[in-house]
Amino acid sequence: MQSQSLQIQKANLYEAQTSEQELSALQDGEILMKIEKYALTTNNITYAVSGSKLRYWDFFPADDTWGIIPVWGFAEVIESKHPDVPVGERCYGYFPMSSHLKAQPIKVNEGGFRDGIEHRAALPPIYNYYMRVNNNPAFHPSMENYLPIIQPLFTTSFLIYHFLKEQSFFEAEQIVLTSASSKTGMALAYMLHQHKAEDGKKIVGLTSPSNVEFVKSVGYYDEVIEYDAYANEMTKSGTVVVDFAGKTQMLEDMGNHLADHLKHIALIGITDWKSTKGFRGVPKSEFFFAPTHLQNKYKEWGSQKTTGLINQSLGGFILDTQKLIEIVYVDDLDKLRSLYLEMLDGKVDPKIGYIVRPNLP
Ligand SMILES: NC(=O)c1ccc[n+]([C@@H]2O[C@H](COP(=O)([O-])OP(=O)(O)OC[C@H]3O[C@@H](n4cnc5c(N)ncnc54)[C@H](OP(=O)(O)O)[C@@H]3O)[C@@H](O)[C@H]2O)c1
Repeated sequence: MQSQSLQIQKANLYEAQTSEQELSALQDGEILMKIEKYALTTNNITYAVSGSKLRYWDFFPADDTWGIIPVWGFAEVIESKHPDVPVGERCYGYFPMSSHLKAQPIKVNEGGFRDGIEHRAALPPIYNYYMRVNNNPAFHPSMENYLPIIQPLFTTSFLIYHFLKEQSFFEAEQIVLTSASSKTGMALAYMLHQHKAEDGKKIVGLTSPSNVEFVKSVGYYDEVIEYDAYANEMTKSGTVVVDFAGKTQMLEDMGNHLADHLKHIALIGITDWKSTKGFRGVPKSEFFFAPTHLQNKYKEWGSQKTTGLINQSLGGFILDTQKLIEIVYVDDLDKLRSLYLEMLDGKVDPKIGYIVRPNLP
């Protein structure tokens, strides 16, 4: 049997090729999963942009020149040599942009298992966990297409919200989100909006001119401002900036503009990766890496409580996004390649959620 993948040249992200690899026979303790569907958002593009620095190429290695971008999705076990993970089991987790994945389940329990394959052992543990979907009360089939699009991004924003709250929002009056139309940005705005009565923070979204109407329609932001208008339209009061865009020059200028009113910049993403010129000059800033914060929360609250709290809030956000974001399916590798290249070039419509189905004929 063969596995098909989309491979990206690590040194030139504009080179993308489809490839086929022969799958070797399973060894004892291994399973073969057929990947049913996965989401593609700008977050996955960022995995490629920072693939070498943050080791995203190491999850599903191809070779020295080519890499495979990780994605979130669902798969079905179609062959098993593991006594506790039978054929027919459906799983949710981290997969390659491929049709199949071989794994070596360890720490198997009712909820899921980890892939114990050696090369993943040193990578952040949350990426190695697979949730068993069959008979899982936390899993709602009605949300199936939205889960891989929203869940990883919402988890990040849940963690950002709690980080800011624990820091007393750095004594700021307003929280300014760049790339306010991104799903991760909207998820943070949702959390801030849900807790507005207790926190009392103004929620400001910065976005591109073409996305202003969409961001306003979401209903979580108190103010929505185009990037170029922030100096005129944004209130000069105590401000935390949560940056998903990576527009480093704008952040430096904003720091000068806000001066003492700037309390903190949380550096989350680089949706506009071509404008990212290095973060050294960005004032009062600190990187926020969700896997590290999640591990910390597991230690502090326990993994069950943390997952429970995330899932409680996630359900409400998915219900909202089902009204805002339309699912578009991508069912062949050539279309996937075109979509990847469009996303790399910044052509992203925030009203669309892409679901790739690599095994449809
Ligand atoms: N640090 C972490 O642990 C962590 C975890 C999860 C996600 N993230 C990051 O959060 C960011 C958002 O990801 P997402 O998947 O939520 O994004 P998304 O939903 O695909 O949203 C894309 C948005 O990016 C903005 N954008 C601005 N310039 C762009 C450009 N040149 N190309 C493409 N998009 C551009 C647009 O919004 P505007 O017009 O509103 O700017 C666009 O609507 C990513 O950089 C991701 O890596 C970081």
